[in-house]
Amino acid sequence: MIIAVSGKGGVGKSTISSLIIKQLVAIKKLPVLAVDADPNSNLGYYLGVDCTAETVVSDLREDEFKKNPAGISKVEWLNMKMQECIFETAKGFDLLVMGRPEGPGCYCAVNNLLRDFLKKIASYYPFVVIDNEAGMEHLSRRTNNEIDMLFIVAEPTNISFLAAENIKKTAEHLPIKIKKKYLVVNKYQNENIRKIDGLDMIGYIRYNKNISDNFDADNPEINNDIHNVLVKSGIL
Ligand SMILES: Nc1ncnc2c1ncn2[C@@H]1O[C@H](COP(=O)(O)OP(=O)(O)O)[C@@H](O)[C@H]1O
Ligand SMILES: [Mg+2]
Repeated sequence: MIIAVSGKGGVGKSTISSLIIKQLVAIKKLPVLAVDADPNSNLGYYLGVDCTAETVVSDLREDEFKKNPAGISKVEWLNMKMQECIFETAKGFDLLVMGRPEGPGCYCAVNNLLRDFLKKIASYYPFVVIDNEAGMEHLSRRTNNEIDMLFIVAEPTNISFLAAENIKKTAEHLPIKIKKKYLVVNKYQNENIRKIDGLDMIGYIRYNKNISDNFDADNPEINNDIHNVLVKSGIL
């Protein structure tokens, strides 16, 4: 099952992605594949792993494509290189950091291969959780997987609700299929929450000031809120 988390910057996508990953690990649906698809990559940090030495997918450029040793085809070579980008942890999840989608020397053949690669590896994992950036377009350039569940996160501010509404609209016009999408309200402190047409709200995650200071701290209240979202959406 592929779960993607999207929303405006700062609403809590990485926090929520990491907490979802931890709950999936806790129920032993192992290994979970954590995909950091936000160019401002920090999911590893939230998950408490140091993966800075690992290759980021966007570092695989056209020149890499040309370095295939004799006897190994270019496609095989790039698949091997992509496989090397998967950071295996002893914590029940693997992490794949995508990096920046476009840049000098980025070759669209690489993106096409990445799409095929993601489709193939995703099938080896019972759960794939993608921490996405607000714009959904770059994701569709890099994966042709069906997304089973898209959580659009908003905090109780007008601007983040507007962003959520836009994401919902963009998502409807993407070439990738998204089976279900829900709104998740994060940092909730009993505000009045307005509705977004055609996007059901699946749950609230309460504001908790401790979470900003210590990601590893046990936050039973927030974990309970995340658990409810996972149960209500049929994931657990
Ligand atoms: N429920 C919450 N209560 C309090 N602070 C939160 C909550 N969720 C996220 N935060 C804080 O908000 C900030 C942005 O969260 P982050 O997950 O990095 O957002 P995003 O990935 O959407 O940019 C962080 O400082 C994080 O600790
Ligand atoms: Mg983030």
